[in-house]
Amino acid sequence: MIKIEYLEEIDAMNAAIYPGSFDPMTLGHLDIIKRASIMFDELTVSVLDNKAKNALFSVGERVSILKEATKDLPNVTVDSFNGLLIDYARQKSIHISVRGLRAITDFEYELQIAQTNRKLSNGELDTVFLTTSLEYAYLSSSSVKEIAAFHGDISQCVPDFVAELVYKKFRVVE
Ligand code: PNS
Repeated sequence: MIKIEYLEEIDAMNAAIYPGSFDPMTLGHLDIIKRASIMFDELTVSVLDNKAKNALFSVGERVSILKEATKDLPNVTVDSFNGLLIDYARQKSIHISVRGLRAITDFEYELQIAQTNRKLSNGELDTVFLTTSLEYAYLSSSSVKEIAAFHGDISQCVPDFVAELVYKKFRVVE
């Protein structure tokens, strides 16, 4: 029988992190959050504070959006992190990372991240993939920004309050 030490930490097993850029959170992200919040007792949605990426929304704004969108999900906490995900997960004693898979094109990138995290953490951080619901499979934060930049309709991509914030950003930028 294979014995995996960390699986004995029952409390920790019931917690997961959903990390990402969330710039901005889309309905696809929200779909993953809702489904993961049913699977795990505690879900921490955490925004990567990546200084290298040219983000539309600040980390604080992205956290606020996620908090507003998840306010009716009592077991969901929103946070941010910088540095390596494995270090952040270790600090929080969380052993599962949740990621959404939209299409085969996501797979190579996600496989690489998942395997790197498992290797670097000596097996302490594993990844659970949820396949994105089909109606959101085409969605990405990048396409939402691009559509909005050209005054296109993003009402089917993000919650209404997020759409307003995205359009506002582009009005300010212009
Ligand atoms: O929403 P994204 O941009 O696809 O999310 C990517 C994310 C945040 C999950 C990934 O970039 C990440 O975990 N970055 C933190 C740095 C890290 O741990 N890198 C090692 C894995 S390659």
